[in-house]
Amino acid sequence: MTEPPSSTATESEGATWMRRGRRYLAPLLVRRFPPEVPFGFVGRALPPHADVDLRIEAHRVPPARSLEIVHGARAVAEAELEGGRGGSATAELEVERTAAEELGRAIAQRTQELWRVGLRFVANGSSRSRAEGERFRLTERLTALGFRTRIPRYETKEALEPTDLLATESRPTGYWQTLSTDGLAALFPFVDETLLEPAGILVGLALANASPVFLDRWSHSSYSWGIFGTTGSGKSFAASLLVLRTRWLRPETEVFVLDPLGEYTGLVRALGGTVVRLADRSAGRLNPLDPETTGGDRREKAGRVAAMLRALFPSLRDEEAAALDTAVSRLYASDGRVPTFDDLLGEVGGMTPPPGRLAALLEVFRSGSLSAVNGPTTFRPDSRTVAVDFSGVPDDQLPFHLAYVLDWAYGRLRSHPGPKLVLIDEAHLLARNEPTAEFLDRVVRHMRHFDAGLLLVTQNPDDFLARASGRSLLRNLYATAFFRLPEVSAEARTFFGLGAAEAEWLPKARLPRDAGYSESLWRIGEWHLPLAVVASTPEYEFLGSALGTRSPPSTGP
Ligand SMILES: Nc1ncnc2c1ncn2[C@@H]1O[C@H](COP(=O)(O)OP(=O)(O)OP(=O)(O)O)[C@@H](O)[C@H]1O
Ligand SMILES: [Mg+2]
Repeated sequence: MTEPPSSTATESEGATWMRRGRRYLAPLLVRRFPPEVPFGFVGRALPPHADVDLRIEAHRVPPARSLEIVHGARAVAEAELEGGRGGSATAELEVERTAAEELGRAIAQRTQELWRVGLRFVANGSSRSRAEGERFRLTERLTALGFRTRIPRYETKEALEPTDLLATESRPTGYWQTLSTDGLAALFPFVDETLLEPAGILVGLALANASPVFLDRWSHSSYSWGIFGTTGSGKSFAASLLVLRTRWLRPETEVFVLDPLGEYTGLVRALGGTVVRLADRSAGRLNPLDPETTGGDRREKAGRVAAMLRALFPSLRDEEAAALDTAVSRLYASDGRVPTFDDLLGEVGGMTPPPGRLAALLEVFRSGSLSAVNGPTTFRPDSRTVAVDFSGVPDDQLPFHLAYVLDWAYGRLRSHPGPKLVLIDEAHLLARNEPTAEFLDRVVRHMRHFDAGLLLVTQNPDDFLARASGRSLLRNLYATAFFRLPEVSAEARTFFGLGAAEAEWLPKARLPRDAGYSESLWRIGEWHLPLAVVASTPEYEFLGSALGTRSPPSTGP
């Protein structure tokens, strides 16, 4: 073959290469994978100095078809075993048969799936010989890792064709591979444009090769993320870091923090924000009954008030709950006045026959420990960062307080333009009972319409998996980070599609008190990435002093 003349043509093709503009492209396909794909092999196959692109596309194979494929593979291995080839071939066939059996079981249990994966490397160079030299060195590295490669001949164009979403375009042999979920996962992590989202914030460094991962919350179908992990695993620190970096990149972002333990007071003050501590009566009042939070929609407000009161009085009998619903709807059916709990007590007092213990229970708003919320709203912060600190609130009242504060925050999200971030720590408190779990789910589903994202922080994903509303919420998180978990339940594994190796690794993920950073597994869309969450020195100093002011747990008002 001769070198192409330096014509004005932008594209020309040889048997095994292609020229585009000034670049020569030399594609390489994988003929055969090693029996075990080394985890993170891409980092070794593509060192930073290599001028090689890798593109992977993956299409899920439907479970029924996956089982057919696996059963087919087992049948072939069995037929060959019966044919009795003997020696090392027999051993290899037995391994294949067992692997197919195991994979078949995993697919039936939905812990693994099969993927049709399109994979191609392209070595680049400013001349044909440079590109081919780059491809030669890549071949050597892949061979050392146990791969068998193939150079497409007279098929360069087909190998380089852009991805068609339906995967129907013709491709050379060796382009398509069938891989299990674990096999596909082994192709990650590697630096790819999806993990270097241009307007994104740094979420962590890949544990495999320290490459940074940047995510742009605002560029996906859901702006909400979740963080799970055991106590001390670094969740609140990571959440603060994400808030800080979000603010740094988009200073106009409004931040609301629902802070059950009073951990974020320092951070919010350091950011120039306002903190209201509910247990501290002088801080101002949020009237849970104010329909301002639903933009004046009184029917919608009545539904939310009923939900928050049921969270406060979980022992209500059916007839009491029905009477409460009636009283609440009457409260909002009348004029456009802003009701207070005195008005609700008035409604209940006027009911005949008297609705069981309802009046006695609601008395807590007139003369008991909740009298602070009986009255018009006086807390109207004008800063862009607001935290509500629930420390000191009695445990049995926490879901109620969280519910109306969330309702209030939601009202603010609706009424303010621009990006907003809502951080809810110890979110299991809302997942614990049905009405607040449902409300939280609804909030998350609608938030995006108001340019808002949630950062949900809690210890155990199982708290959310136990209810349909919790599962729905989890499905609406675009990114989910798992820090150390004492164990990963079978439900969590299945729900999040975590592989066996990942589930075994999570209880061993390193803690910040030992490592100085926290290890985590991020599930970002369909990607699974082990990341180190690391703060830079200035960030650490800023957060260290801000988070250092954490108020002692459960001090009374
Ligand atoms: N990435 C990190 N780098 C350095 N220090 C960290 C990091 N993450 C957490 N820490 C430190 O580790 C300690 C525990 O972290 P943090 O409070 O965030 O844990 P948590 O998961 O929120 O625990 P809990 O469930 O008890 O609230 C804190 O003192 C924090 O400053
Ligand atoms: Mg915490």
